[in-house]
Amino acid sequence: MRVGVVTEIKADEYRVALTPAGARELVREGHDVLVERGAGEGSAFADASYEAVGARLATADEVWAGSELVLKVKEPLPAEYPRLRNDLILFTYLHLAASKELTEALAASGAACVAYETVETAGGSLPLLAPMSEIAGRLASQAGAYFLEKPLGGRGLLLAGVAGVSPGKVLVIGGGIVGYNAAVIALGLGGNVTILERSIDRMRHLDEILHGRVSLVMSSTLQVEESVRDADVIIGAVLIPGAKAPKLITREMLGEMKAGAVFCDVAIDQGGCAETSRPTTHSEPVYTVDGIIHYCVANMPGAVPITSTKALTNATLPYVEAIAEHGLAEAVARDPALARGVNVLGGKITYAAVAEAHGLPCTELADVLPV
Ligand SMILES: NC(=O)c1ccc[n+]([C@@H]2O[C@H](COP(=O)([O-])OP(=O)(O)OC[C@H]3O[C@@H](n4cnc5c(N)ncnc54)[C@H](O)[C@@H]3O)[C@@H](O)[C@H]2O)c1
Repeated sequence: MRVGVVTEIKADEYRVALTPAGARELVREGHDVLVERGAGEGSAFADASYEAVGARLATADEVWAGSELVLKVKEPLPAEYPRLRNDLILFTYLHLAASKELTEALAASGAACVAYETVETAGGSLPLLAPMSEIAGRLASQAGAYFLEKPLGGRGLLLAGVAGVSPGKVLVIGGGIVGYNAAVIALGLGGNVTILERSIDRMRHLDEILHGRVSLVMSSTLQVEESVRDADVIIGAVLIPGAKAPKLITREMLGEMKAGAVFCDVAIDQGGCAETSRPTTHSEPVYTVDGIIHYCVANMPGAVPITSTKALTNATLPYVEAIAEHGLAEAVARDPALARGVNVLGGKITYAAVAEAHGLPCTELADVLPV
């Protein structure tokens, strides 16, 4: 198959959808890999490293027009809509429930659009979202420790403490992938860590893998209220699948918290878990409300494109290889997890939650993609 990789044109996006290591696997399997010149630069992959493994360098026009499967990181922007065609497979993050305009543009193109974020295994895990949650969780603790410094507006506290001085207290709300990774780094930085979680099974698992080094406490509105008062860093990491994040921290509670405490709301991409959360960017990551620093960057992994690109492509490559080897219809028939990734195909919406979000009809995948 002819597999194309284009440069991301979205502002502040430095990731690329395929590493040279991934390109090499595809070339070895007999595929023709086209990479737009400069596509890997933001992630520190030079053009020469793609050429060295047998990929061909090309212009954006050549990649879009000459590929059967185009790999991207972010959704196509309006400037890219005219590039989509009905014999193209597009594999990327789409987040279509958030944009009717994009959904309609993809449907109008007739292209087969497979979304990373809805690839879902039988156990309900999201293998192409997980690596970004791991990175965001790890970054959250780094950001929390950093913004505690006085010149940055924080309390003026060293998270690790020193001999004779207590460490700072880190409260992680939500012990899923983000929460676990935040806790691991917060522990490594020397913090005193508590995780609030709603699932007892998940807490048992965390207790086992963290060897009792964190306090695991059942989450309730009363517990959240009590715990936030005492924390120096609070990390919002809750998720209720398919729903907006619950507003666990109210404006009133901020007044009771320690002045200069740092609140990292990782769940901001689902609306955030405090009443006072609003999305920020890497160029202006924080703002202060009632003395509490809010860090609410909606695309945290974008800050570390070298790590994010490698982590993302580690996870996507097996699916890319399956599509390239078998074609989409057979790859989807072989793997129900990949089938769940198909959002739009042949002008129809095939993912129920996207159709529902926009009040549009949903078509069974099997009706538009017969094997
Ligand atoms: N800002 C970013 O750049 C970025 C990057 C990756 C992920 N995220 C977001 O981070 C959030 C967490 O993602 P995840 O992958 O860890 O999800 P996850 O499903 O692995 O974990 C969520 C956890 O929250 C728990 N939970 C739900 N309600 C709770 C409550 N009231 N109190 C305590 N715990 C509660 C669940 O039991 C679950 O264990 C999501 O909103 C995700 O979209 C943001």
